[in-house]
Amino acid sequence: MSTALAKALQEWEIQEKEFQKLQETHRLYLQKLDEVSKLQKNFAASISRQRKNIKDTSQSLKKFSKGLTEEEKNAVEEVKGHIQDMPNNLFQMEAFLPKKNGIYLSLVLGSVNVNLLSKESKAEYKDEYERFKLYVTMILFLLTFMCRFFISYRVVDALLNFLLVWYYCTLTIRESILISNGSRIKGWWVIHHYISTFLSGVMLTWPDGEPYQSFRNQFLAYCLYQIVVQCLQYYYQSGCLYRLKALGERHNLDLTVEGFQSWMWRGLTFLLPFLFLGQFWQLWNSISLFRMARLPECKEWQVSMIGFCFLVLFMGNFFTTLAVVHHKRKNQGKTKML
Ligand code: COA
Repeated sequence: MSTALAKALQEWEIQEKEFQKLQETHRLYLQKLDEVSKLQKNFAASISRQRKNIKDTSQSLKKFSKGLTEEEKNAVEEVKGHIQDMPNNLFQMEAFLPKKNGIYLSLVLGSVNVNLLSKESKAEYKDEYERFKLYVTMILFLLTFMCRFFISYRVVDALLNFLLVWYYCTLTIRESILISNGSRIKGWWVIHHYISTFLSGVMLTWPDGEPYQSFRNQFLAYCLYQIVVQCLQYYYQSGCLYRLKALGERHNLDLTVEGFQSWMWRGLTFLLPFLFLGQFWQLWNSISLFRMARLPECKEWQVSMIGFCFLVLFMGNFFTTLAVVHHKRKNQGKTKML
């Protein structure tokens, strides 16, 4: 046998052994997966049993409120105190178990599991969501800038609006996944993205003509401004995420932990004037469109529909932002008192 062939056969033997090891690892992996899935089922069943027991216990404790000695009263109060924290703890445990999707995710994705099973992967998903928003925003910036200053074709505008529809649709899906992984995104921001999808869709169908052209520049300038604000928002939100992670304070995807850091407060006060200006721009868009809709030569239904969407966006954004700021101020006040 030639030395070259002997070497090749020797290499093959090593490779075969490695392959056998790989098969063994694969078998072990499947076995562990099976164990994990059984553990998940048992764990989920125990949680629902616990929940039912807690309900029963707290109901039966209610019966023992009168005619108790001091010692018995203390014992009952102690149990009640323990019971109070339990639902929250169970909820946190459940965040690491696969669960059924809500209606929207079931419709879009079917019954695939979207629950991430570790804190790291949850935080990583959130990071990736923020990065995704930033990258698409950059592409949108380029396209909007070109439309505003260099190209004036309805077809390119349509491309921009189509990209907006796709972007907002994607956000609604990603946000639903975030929410099912414990994010505290307020319902309004998700609704905001549904309305924005609809708005961009209606913009897409608005036929070219005098009314469209008279609103076009205002709309494109608004889009550019919104993109700048979104970039600032990205730096604020990823900064919050980074700092809380570094401090080791984060639980699941909970950004507003007690003791909202002064850095975050400074970031927010810097951001707020830009946000409010953007929101009043939405109001201005809405007023301009309602005025346009009253002109006799304006026949398109899109004008008042888009005006209405901008009005709803303004109101929702404005009042939700006020509520968020009020809530954070209250929390900050509480932390100072501690
Ligand atoms: N879109 C998507 N998610 C948002 C969001 C938004 N506009 N605002 C907040 N969230 C998310 C946060 O990332 C956080 O998620 P997490 O639990 O997964 O970490 C959760 O909602 C709770 O956030 P909260 O603490 O309430 O707010 P915040 O400090 O992250 O952000 C604001 C506060 C005011 C900066 C933010 O709500 C905001 O930008 N609002 C204005 C949006 C707007 O008006 N845009 C139009 C301007 S032209």
